Amino acid sequence: MIRPIKRYGEPLLHRPADSVDAVTPEIGALIDDMIETMYAAPGIGLAAPQIGVDLRIFVTDVSSGRNADDLVVMINPEIVAAEGIQNREEGCLSLPGFEAVVPRPERTVVRGLDRDGCIREVAGTGLTARAFQHELDHLDGRLFVDRLRGLKRELIVRRIKKLRRSGKW
Ligand code: NI
Repeated sequence: MIRPIKRYGEPLLHRPADSVDAVTPEIGALIDDMIETMYAAPGIGLAAPQIGVDLRIFVTDVSSGRNADDLVVMINPEIVAAEGIQNREEGCLSLPGFEAVVPRPERTVVRGLDRDGCIREVAGTGLTARAFQHELDHLDGRLFVDRLRGLKRELIVRRIKKLRRSGKW
C-alpha cells in the first residue's frame, strides 16, 4: 500500500525514532509499504518516520527498482565505518522541490537487521553511501537541511514557511 509522505515540519520527522523490538509480520507489512511508497514516489530511499511511523527502519534502492540486488532493508541500523568525503546535490521526498550540496563520507558500512531479522552489513560508496547516511539521519530526526549552515539553510527554511502559510506545503 502506498502511504502519504510526511513533509518537513511534521513533528515526527524532527525527533529520533524508536528501535524495533521484534521483526514481526506487521513489521514485514510496513516494510512492503515503504518499498512500494519509495518506488511510487519515485525515490531512492525512504525512512519509516517519513510515512508517519516512529520506528528505526529504512529502505534504499539506488537503481530505483531496475536492479533487485540494490534493494536494501535496514532495521535498527548503525553506521560502523565511514571514510572519505563527497560533495553532491541531495534531495528528500519530505522536502519536494529543494536540493542542496551536502558533504557526506564517500564510503560507509551500515549494519542492522534485514527483514528476516538477520544481522546484515552492507558497504556502499558514492550515491549508495549518501543514501545510507541520509536515511539514517531521518531515524535521528535530522533532514538534509539540518546539515546546511547559515544562509543556505535559512533560505530553504524561509521558503518552506512561506509555502506553509499559503497552504501549499
Ligand atoms: Ni529524505
